[in-house]
Amino acid sequence: MFLNKKLKAPLLINAMTGGHPEVKHINRSLAVIAAKAGIAMAIGSQTAGLEDPKVRDTYRAARDENPEGILLANVSALSSPLMVKDAVEMIEADGVQLHLNVAQELAMTEGDRNFRGTLANIEKIAALSEVPVIVKEVGFGLSHEVVRKIYDVGIRYIDISGKGGTDFIRIEYMRSGSEYQNKFRNIGISTANSLVESMSLDLPLTVIASGGFTGGSDIPCALALGAKLVGLARHFLQVLTQCSERALKKRVDTIIEDLRCTMLMAGAANLKELSEKPVIITGATAEWLLRRGIDIDRYSLPGHGRNR
Ligand SMILES: Cc1cc2nc3c(=O)[nH]c(=O)nc-3n(C[C@H](O)[C@H](O)[C@H](O)COP(=O)(O)O)c2cc1C
Repeated sequence: MFLNKKLKAPLLINAMTGGHPEVKHINRSLAVIAAKAGIAMAIGSQTAGLEDPKVRDTYRAARDENPEGILLANVSALSSPLMVKDAVEMIEADGVQLHLNVAQELAMTEGDRNFRGTLANIEKIAALSEVPVIVKEVGFGLSHEVVRKIYDVGIRYIDISGKGGTDFIRIEYMRSGSEYQNKFRNIGISTANSLVESMSLDLPLTVIASGGFTGGSDIPCALALGAKLVGLARHFLQVLTQCSERALKKRVDTIIEDLRCTMLMAGAANLKELSEKPVIITGATAEWLLRRGIDIDRYSLPGHGRNR
């Protein structure tokens, strides 16, 4: 269960697109897949749809294709509560993602430069929103300090969207034709580090893990560490645009089948049991987490997620 609806698998097609007539078919295809596979979906930033009623159908297409499914709205964390309400109504959303994308905005020549008041705005939205509010990053991860702050202002859902997949600093530099020279390459927190940092707070939070997932054993690992859902963006978009809707459906089915096989091999009859399986954290991830003062040995013990 997620947001009071049943999912067939703990996966999310994460926020990507909308706002231009040429991308309407992408939201439509992604929604067809979400409906067939029984997984959740978020649409891309609705800023364009809030400003221009003519492009609202590019987002709405996702709801039309998947009337019963879990669909998430997406706006900036600096949006007003009224804009959030409008975005939610536009697609009859089950929840709304507020994206934090400071690094991306700064890498964009035309991007925002003023982020003052973001936390107070999130608090206002959390208090007024009629649907659950999910605060998400876009590929640079959330630290435990940030997670604590947003929890303290009333947020109960986060999407860590860590470093390791889509790199918006690189994308924005390439898009504007500026020379990148890797100058911000150390910015961000890896998905694994961000996930464990968030879980280590032991707060009653629903955590979505995303950032760099392409299938395979990373997905069961994230679920074993306590993520409720795993979100994939770029990988799904690549399969859809470089192959076909059919190929994407097949890819989603394979990812779900691989998850089932891994659970069987790990002796987990369901996702609750998977979340209690020991996860041994080694290498650079272990070093990072230990230096951040996080007890990683607790995850090596069976039943570590029992009280979540
Ligand atoms: C083409 C593309 C467009 C995206 N647009 C948005 C967006 O509008 N809003 C948002 O919150 N995140 C957006 N994202 C970020 C993703 O939702 C996700 O957080 C991030 O890409 C990390 O996941 P990935 O490594 O699986 O791509 C976008 C990602 C991609 C690849």
